[in-house]
Amino acid sequence: MKNNFKDIDHHHHQLYSSWSFSKLMAFFFLLICISYLFYSLRFVTHSYDCDSNHHESLHIPAIRQELPREKPPAPPGIEETNISHIVFGIGASAKLWKQRKEYIKLWWRAEEMRGVVWLEQKVRTEGSDESSLPPLRISKDTSNFKYRNPKGHRSAIRISRIVSETLRLGMKGVRWFVMGDDDTFFVAENLVKVLQKYDHNQFYYIGSSSESHLQNIYFSYNMAYGGGGFAISYPLAVALEKMQDGCIQRYPGLYGSDDRIQACMAELGVPLTKEKGFHQFDVYGNLFGLLAAHPLAPLVSLHHLDVVEPIFPNVSRVQALKRLNGPRKLDAAGLMQQSICYDKARSWTISVSWGYAVQIFRGIFSAREMEMPARTFLNWYKRADYTAYPFNTRPVSRNVCQKPFVYYLSNAAFHSPANQTATRYVRVHQNPPCKWKMDDPTQINLVEVYQKPDPHLWDKAPRRKCCRVRRTKKKGSMVIDVGECGENEVVEL
Ligand SMILES: *[C@@H]1O[C@H](CO)[C@@H](O)[C@H](O)[C@H]1NC(C)=O
Ligand SMILES: *[C@@H]1O[C@H](CO)[C@@H](O)[C@H](O)[C@H]1NC(C)=O
Ligand SMILES: *[C@@H]1O[C@H](CO)[C@@H](O)[C@H](O)[C@H]1NC(C)=O
Repeated sequence: MKNNFKDIDHHHHQLYSSWSFSKLMAFFFLLICISYLFYSLRFVTHSYDCDSNHHESLHIPAIRQELPREKPPAPPGIEETNISHIVFGIGASAKLWKQRKEYIKLWWRAEEMRGVVWLEQKVRTEGSDESSLPPLRISKDTSNFKYRNPKGHRSAIRISRIVSETLRLGMKGVRWFVMGDDDTFFVAENLVKVLQKYDHNQFYYIGSSSESHLQNIYFSYNMAYGGGGFAISYPLAVALEKMQDGCIQRYPGLYGSDDRIQACMAELGVPLTKEKGFHQFDVYGNLFGLLAAHPLAPLVSLHHLDVVEPIFPNVSRVQALKRLNGPRKLDAAGLMQQSICYDKARSWTISVSWGYAVQIFRGIFSAREMEMPARTFLNWYKRADYTAYPFNTRPVSRNVCQKPFVYYLSNAAFHSPANQTATRYVRVHQNPPCKWKMDDPTQINLVEVYQKPDPHLWDKAPRRKCCRVRRTKKKGSMVIDVGECGENEVVEL
């Protein structure tokens, strides 16, 4: 007890002694607030944010970052980051080029994007390649570098140096270098949106870790996994280029290209800024669970497309990804965003992953269950192990009656009279017979979802959209509206 009192006393003493410092900080904070007032009229109505007491003044950096719920316009003279400011560096190998280039063609737009595919040797080019792919280049020879990892391949050194080699091309007006593999699918609109949040004049290393907890232990939780793609701001790339070759020589025992980048980032003292929309996908099997309950973050990339099953059933991997381009063009920000609602009359739970799939469950599942990915996939060691992931997952129910009815995207269009996207989802698989005496979704073969595109979705604080089941007389269909939640609207029955 005595000790406890002593602790409290000590704490108070510290508080009082920092009082004058806090006053100074409060004054400083006031200055910042005033400049914000000039910045945006919006803040006049929120001026209570400025009435901070000395306690709040201790959180200046956090408040500065999080205050604008709607992003203020870029300051005059500084243009917002757009696709022209990004240069892609794609690591590829001649052996797999013929098949992998088809993935790049799915997202590459030669008219507006800049980038280079780096190969170790010349490859045969076919007719339409030139207009549908980035220019190809051969990496510099790296045989003088030491490589001592018994399991890996020394091409890791070549791929690691893509950042520096791309920088040395001397392209103008570059703000970000974005690395990816030949089997990475980028959603460029969302990549731009993510990078707009960061000041390209500072040192940033942005990406995401692996879905495999063990991979993150073997490599690092501080590493941006290369296949998921990562972004390096221009000045950081300049700093990296100066030291990278020396740095690579200091880590001959590392496995891959991305851990070599991370080792150099650690020497530069630059941490990983995690963005949840970059997906390495170190898993096997069916990504459905992960894509049907995507985190509330813009979908930036998909990787390991040859490893996992096609994301839509019964079509090839390339065809499946191509289907995503329909909803991407209509509303990239909304792609794979989940909303959860109930059909109250029939006691069903509905989960929409916009542009991808709709699920109908018999019975009522809570929002906290539905936002957890179902383990439709295996871990990187091909086991169904719930401790394998650095995030929560839920088991796939063994009860035939609890198996969801799954509807996959079949069609996406813009419905101009209402300014809405209209996406259609159809059932591909039959569900097993169930004896529960309740309404049965078997008769529903088609789900239509209407949603207004929201290009500013990610300029606001993240919040799941709400969905509502519309009354309809259409037989065999369900019609769902997705949109911003109303006041006091929560996912409850
Ligand atoms: C991107 O921004 C630059 C200014 O930095 C501007 O000149 C250019 O027109 C913009 N491009 C697009 C595609 O918006
Ligand atoms: C898969 O595709 C084939 C041919 O395209 C078709 O005959 C078959 O019915 C499809 N299977 C399902 C489950 O849709
Ligand atoms: C559709 O959107 C455009 C542009 O945002 C707007 O000008 C127009 O009034 C909208 N129409 C309807 C019917 O909401």
